[in-house]
Amino acid sequence: MKASGCILSFLFVFSSISSISLALTDAEASFLTRRQLLTLPEGGDLPENFENGVQLNMEFPNPRLRRAYIALQAWKKAIYSDPLKTTANWVGPDVCHYKGVFCEKALDDPKLDVVASIDLNGADIAGYLPAELGLLQELAVFHINSNRFCGIVPPSFCRMKLLYEFDISNNRFVGEFPSVYACLPSLTYLDIRYNEFEGCLPAELFNKNLDAIFVNNNRFGCTIPETVGNSNVSVLVIANNNFEGCIPSSIGKMRNLNELLFSNNKLGGCVPPELFQISNITVLDISSNSFSGIMSKSFKIDNVEEFSLANNQLTGFVPESICKLPGLKNFTYSNNFFNGAAKECVPTSRNDIVMDDSSNCLPDRPKQKSSKECQAVVSKPVDCSKAKCGGGGVPSKPPAVPQQPPKVETPKPPQTPHVQPPPVHSPPPAPVHSPPPPVKSPPPASPPPAPVHSPPPPVQSPPPASPPPVAAPPPDDFVLPPNLGFQYQSPPPPMFPGY
Ligand SMILES: *[C@@H]1O[C@H](CO)[C@@H](O)[C@H](O)[C@H]1NC(C)=O
Ligand SMILES: *[C@@H]1O[C@H](CO)[C@@H](O)[C@H](O)[C@H]1NC(C)=O
Repeated sequence: MKASGCILSFLFVFSSISSISLALTDAEASFLTRRQLLTLPEGGDLPENFENGVQLNMEFPNPRLRRAYIALQAWKKAIYSDPLKTTANWVGPDVCHYKGVFCEKALDDPKLDVVASIDLNGADIAGYLPAELGLLQELAVFHINSNRFCGIVPPSFCRMKLLYEFDISNNRFVGEFPSVYACLPSLTYLDIRYNEFEGCLPAELFNKNLDAIFVNNNRFGCTIPETVGNSNVSVLVIANNNFEGCIPSSIGKMRNLNELLFSNNKLGGCVPPELFQISNITVLDISSNSFSGIMSKSFKIDNVEEFSLANNQLTGFVPESICKLPGLKNFTYSNNFFNGAAKECVPTSRNDIVMDDSSNCLPDRPKQKSSKECQAVVSKPVDCSKAKCGGGGVPSKPPAVPQQPPKVETPKPPQTPHVQPPPVHSPPPAPVHSPPPPVKSPPPASPPPAPVHSPPPPVQSPPPASPPPVAAPPPDDFVLPPNLGFQYQSPPPPMFPGY
């Protein structure tokens, strides 16, 4: 009785929000999630040849488009609010003309059109992903950023052997790290930022040959896996989560790394000197954590432009080797316990680099901490040569600090790009080390995403413990994925400012 009244009121809510966009309440999001979990087949995938059992009184140019029709109609049914009416023309057999759906010639048969790309970025749709979406087996690009999708990523996505770019950022997805990352052999760009994922990063994530990983602004925790050093990514963004422990020293092996954003977590211990040997890094931000100890003196990060150490508990001297780095444009070391800095690192000494040294323990500099505050920390220096801090281990206990680092500004919401996808399914495979997505897009005008004020929605745990069907090894004539990575066609939400 009570339950049905509850569902009725949800139905009422859904019909009343059909034309205006509203952030979903936690109750609505968990309702959608439960709906999805109830409809997902056991194991999260459809039975083999499921599509053959579906009766349709329609003609299709080929069986793959018929399969796509079944997938897209199931998706349309799983949509509860579409205020911009994006899916209004998702009617009839001509799926290649559905809004946000793009067809290309099949890689293995140029006479056949297939659905190669989905781009619903910024459509503001509320709903969930049904298992039938796995029938889009020719899909290379799946972009649904800035919508209100809830629930989990169904294991049936493992059928998408050509899936190359996967961007589900800025939605309301929940649960553990989506397991499909492991079964998609073509995956290159993985963007799940601004959702409500929780738990640990799987160690295997860094053994996949990906180019970019964005997991920022979720509820992830645990330590950073030691495998991180195996990764060839050019961009790794884990900012604004609850990661703890040390940075594994294996990080120094990430030779393709251009951008590393670890800010606003609970990381600590001494910063491994290996981090400062990554020569190609241009953006390095470890601000707003609990790093302690003195800085190493050796810096080979010759290409670094943006470098932030702010809001930690670092002590000792800021060496000139940092401030002489040839590419440096912006260096922030405010709100630490540094008690000396090379003259090249004094902000007033130069106008070619933006620097911030405020709220430290620097003699003769304005806006510093009180001597009482400084004394408590500076008198008990952390010996990093003794601090055991490899392997994502437990950091040595940082000195008691009389004052919490300031709370970081609420991150700006991702922007919603509307970019026409370029042709897929034709050019040769992209080099894996393609340039990173644009990071300095201007801050979006829209209000920030719903604050993470409430406890996680009361969702059931994600489907069965049994792992999704593992990808069969690609056949010999397997065609490589199309060239999409070079300029990621749909720029992800911006990382600056506020990531
Ligand atoms: C990284 O690239 C190297 C050299 O191309 C390759 O041998 C290695 O398997 C790659 N690592 C991963 C995790 O893909
Ligand atoms: C660094 O970047 C340059 C140019 O982008 C590239 O040629 C070089 O191979 C990179 N170095 C490493 C170690 O990846």
